[in-house]
Parts: sequence; C-alpha cells; structure tokens
Amino acid sequence: MDKIQIRGGRKLFGEVNISGAKNAALPLIASSILVNGKVCISNVPDLMDITSIKALLKDLGAGCEHHQDRLEIDGSSIHKIEAEYDLVRKMRASILVLGPLVARFGHAKVSLPGGCAIGARPVNMHLTGLEALGATISIEHGYIEAKAEQLKGAEICFDMPTVTGTENLMMAATLAKGTTVLRNAAREPEIVALAHALNRMGATVTGAGTAIITIQGVPALYGTDIHIIPDRIETGTFMVAAAATRGDVRIKGCKPDDIRATINKLRAAGAAIHTTDDTIHVKGSAPIKSVDIKTMPYPGFPTDMQAQFMALMTVASGSSMIHESIFENRFIHANELLRMGADISITNGNIAHVRGVKKLQGAPVMASDLRASASLVIAGLVAEGETTIARVYHMDRGYEAIEKKFSLLGADIKRIK
Ligand code: EPU
Repeated sequence: MDKIQIRGGRKLFGEVNISGAKNAALPLIASSILVNGKVCISNVPDLMDITSIKALLKDLGAGCEHHQDRLEIDGSSIHKIEAEYDLVRKMRASILVLGPLVARFGHAKVSLPGGCAIGARPVNMHLTGLEALGATISIEHGYIEAKAEQLKGAEICFDMPTVTGTENLMMAATLAKGTTVLRNAAREPEIVALAHALNRMGATVTGAGTAIITIQGVPALYGTDIHIIPDRIETGTFMVAAAATRGDVRIKGCKPDDIRATINKLRAAGAAIHTTDDTIHVKGSAPIKSVDIKTMPYPGFPTDMQAQFMALMTVASGSSMIHESIFENRFIHANELLRMGADISITNGNIAHVRGVKKLQGAPVMASDLRASASLVIAGLVAEGETTIARVYHMDRGYEAIEKKFSLLGADIKRIK
C-alpha cells in the first residue's frame, strides 16, 4: 500500500490550481441515471470516488466514456436497478443512485451503506423522504428496496439538513407527479450546482441554496453539458496549509464565496487573505493565533475542514476549542497528531481543546478518513523531520494529485510504494 513521506519545515510558495469538486461530481454523475440520453460532464476530478461511481453506473448498464476531465454518461442503456454491496461498500455516496433509479424505473435496490470511521451516518431521512414521495421501502438482507410506479410530489421537512439526503430527494422529485417542497434542506454550494444541472436537463427546481427547495415534477429529463464547480474543501485545505507553513500561496480557479467561513477563521488566526472572483492569495504570519471553531451546516464552518484546521491550531500561540457538531466520531486524527507532539484533549467526544506547541515532530502516522489524511499532510509539512502517512488510499478518494500539487509549492513530499 502506498504511503506519503514528508520532510517538514519548508514554507509553501507559488500557485496552485483547484480541481473539480468531488462532492459536486458524485451527485451530478448519479443524476445522469434520470436521463434517457447523454450527459456530458467536464472538469471531472481524477479520484478514486469517481472511479467507484463510474464502476457502479457501468454495472447498471450506463455507457461511460471518460477522456481527460470529460465524462460522457449514456443513461439510455441502463438495464439494471440493483447497486450491489461490493460497489456500494467502497463509497457511501453510492446511496445517491437510489432516488434517480426509483424515479426513472419505479424500482431500485441499493445495498445499505455500512459502517463509517467518522460516525454512524444513517440514511433514514433519505428513506422517509422517498416514502413521502409514495415509494414503498423495505430493508432485507442488507439491501434497501424502493418501489413506486409513479412518485408523487409531497411536502418533506428534514429533521436536520442532510447534504446527500437533499440531493437524493431533489433528484427523485424531478420526475414525480406534481410539486415537492423540501424544507430545512441543506444549502451547500454542491446542492446549488446540482439544481442548476437538473434545470439544464429540463427540471424545474427553485430555491436551491436556501432552506426551502421547490421541485415541479416533469415527465422526462434530457441530456446536457455540465461543468463541475471548483472543490471548496481542496481550496480550504491549501489555504490552511499555506497559513500553517507561514507561506505565500495563490490559489487559482477557486470560488472564494463558497469557503467564506474558513477564510474568516484564517484571518482571525492572523493570515493575510486577499480574494478576487476566482483566486485566493494567502500569506501566513507568525505567530498563528488560536481561534475557536464549531462545525455547522453551510454556510457555517465545514466539518470537512475541521481536521485540517485542528492541524493548524496545534502550532498556534494559545489554546483553541474545536467543536464538531455534525459527526459524532470525527476526531480520530487527534490521536495521530498527538503522536507528532500536539497537545490535544477531548471532552464529551466532540469538543477538542488544542493547546498550541512550538513545534510538531515528524512521526509515522496513519490516515483514518479522507479529511484526516489532509490534516496529517499539513501537520507533516510543519513538523520537524520526517513524517510517513500510511493508508493513503483515504486521501486518493478525494484529493487529486495532492502530493504533486504540494511539491510544486516547494514541499518535500513524495509517494512511496
Ligand atoms: N444524518 C442522519 N440521517 C440521514 C442523513 C444524515 O441522521 O438520513 C445525519 C448524519 O449522520 C450527520 C448529519 O445528518 O450527522 C449530516 O450528514 P449529511 O447527510 O449532510 O452527510 P452526507 O450527505 O452523508 C456529505 C458529504 C460529506 C460531508 C457531509 C457534511 C458528500 C458525498 N459527502 O455527506 O463529505 O462531510 O455532507 O457536510 O457530499 C468528505 O468529502 O470527506 C465527506 C465526508
């Protein structure tokens, strides 16, 4: 298995280009199931999660042609409505095929996603939402089965905002008869991007980006071209890495408006940040100031940036409190940071108290999930000596060519086989 080896202590300097957003690409690819024709998606990042969802769509019978960053999916040849365990277990976001399959084919069977390192992550709100749209749901032998001759519009109020839940129901409702209203919907930029794409396919979705989304069902959707938005979490990861190494980095091809909460917290930590419509210039400063964060649904501070921000706070000048309010077990990276000399204690399972230390020390560590791996890379970049990160496959799920991008910024980082 590959490992990442880093010799820390270098400041990051230069420019980096941001890739297409993983969490926008996955629902867009799933939405092509709704179409009896071809959907062309550009700016598709080269990631393991994209490979996984492509394998799933191919298994359903869809045509998938991938050239460089362009993916063409032909949903007209889909002949199977079952997403098998071996494909779904590799990526929880596979649940995104459930809504589109039942909406277009009246029947879907999707393996129930299993355990996850960062929390229980149930899919109950996806299922009650589909039931409200008129589907009959059963769970047997580890599979969710949904049946409905014709979905019917309904009023659905989520107990809490769920990103993929909102996406699943938004997609399903496009082909339902009548009007669906989703209340307490997630407001992430990826939801807005999906609504925009669905409208280009002929759907009528309004209100995406607010807590109330209205979908007027239509009889069919059509093929179209879609460009994927820049990855806001990759953007934030480079911002934090630049600040942590006291570097000077220009991040290009990004959307600063999608990552304002992180920009604000980095400014509070002392970084100088200048933005244009599509660039962010980060200049780190010494000392880094301690800042408290609490993860919240968008537009709050993203849970997907919590681990990276914790790495920054380990070398800040005082004490900070990091409150994880979205997932119940998203602090596994803290134990690895401790191995590098960080001073962190956790109370109630979801509040981390981080007391800044002068230096981290390089050490062998292990990634436990995608964003934890990014946190360890940032820690490795600032640490004295050598850090080796095992289980890099977590990183490969969601960061395109990350070690190459960091190398170009002057980091001493390499992949070892
Ligand atoms: N939840 C339920 N029931 C449900 C759905 C969600 O209780 O039916 C709970 C979850 O357990 C969690 C909260 O609601 O406590 C919010 O979870 P959400 O459903 O929003 O998460 P998700 O849709 O499974 C997406 C991203 C995650 C990101 C979260 C939160 C994709 C493919 N995944 O997951 O991304 O952390 O939203 O913003 O969009 C990542 O990229 O590393 C990643 C984990």
